[in-house]
Amino acid sequence: MATQRGASVEFREVSKRYSDQVAVDRLSFTVPAGKICVLVGPSGSGKTTSLKMVNRLVEPSEGQILIDGTNVLAEEPTTLRRRIGYVIQQVGLFPHQTIAENVATVPRLLRWSGERIDARVTELLTLVGLDPRRYAKRYPAQLSGGERQRVGVARALAAEPPVMLMDEPFGAVDPIVRDRLQQEFLQIQRSQGTTVLFVTHDIDEAIRLGDRVAVMRGGRLVQFSPPAELLAHPANEFVAQFVGSDRGLKRLALLTVGGTELETDVDPARVEPKAPRLEPSMSLRDALARLLTSESELGLVYEDGRFRGALTLRQIGHMIRSDA
Ligand SMILES: Nc1ncnc2c1ncn2[C@@H]1O[C@H](COP(=O)(O)OP(=O)(O)OP(=O)(O)O)[C@@H](O)[C@H]1O
Ligand SMILES: [Mg+2]
Repeated sequence: MATQRGASVEFREVSKRYSDQVAVDRLSFTVPAGKICVLVGPSGSGKTTSLKMVNRLVEPSEGQILIDGTNVLAEEPTTLRRRIGYVIQQVGLFPHQTIAENVATVPRLLRWSGERIDARVTELLTLVGLDPRRYAKRYPAQLSGGERQRVGVARALAAEPPVMLMDEPFGAVDPIVRDRLQQEFLQIQRSQGTTVLFVTHDIDEAIRLGDRVAVMRGGRLVQFSPPAELLAHPANEFVAQFVGSDRGLKRLALLTVGGTELETDVDPARVEPKAPRLEPSMSLRDALARLLTSESELGLVYEDGRFRGALTLRQIGHMIRSDA
């Protein structure tokens, strides 16, 4: 399938009021094309309302939302929605349609040929890890919760939308399945270049998936940053609390061994034999785990068989504390 570009999504001073209540308050941010923006914040902070204004399930009271520079209000809601994938927490599969029919919903609306639809359904089920031969003809009730969520993601991706809205799509699954779904989702998103607005309660999920994280509170945007920046420099006490007191450790997951300044005046032949070898692509969190289990103060970093330097526990400790 040809890779296609996502579209940029811009919120410009967007507000939503319900009689006396402000659900979203002058929200402004831009998600560049092909990036993932994760919205996090406490219950009632306006995350779902913000998503629904993008595909016009909710109309803003004020402000504009632009997709590739065009105001969403300028387009028919039904046409707009065919270009925007939407995954809601309770998945919302059609119970009397098979998995294949569910996935084919938007391609059918777009009047794709039967052949093209079949090929796309097969491709997508495979992509989300559901063998089409086993799953295509089943009904939603015959799937586990995690499998249904994968179908929800496949259905939202079916017509290769330039923008995807995902509202706690992995909320109802156990941590192990969630981990796999996150990995699969990232691969799919990267291969298709889709722009994604993703809502979660889970700060770890936000840090893992987001190119940008938007922290909301009471309808307002409190911080909008790449995850590493959020962990290193929370905008205020609220964000600091929200990302957690272990944010230094979390930050290690975003940094790699190869991206760290290594100790070069180390002779690999003379260090303790238990010093483990570390790959430049490893995260510092994994490197720390490796050092701790091997009970070594340092690890040796090789790239293409050549010694590049040593990474020490002291350096990792410094990375945890810096800016924290
Ligand atoms: N249709 C509506 N009428 C009146 N108030 C609404 C409506 N929809 C949402 N609200 C209010 O707007 C605020 C934001 O709601 P929203 O659903 O966007 O929160 P959320 O951040 O998605 O929360 P959660 O994490 O619990 O899903 C809440 O206080 C909610 O009660
Ligand atoms: Mg919500």
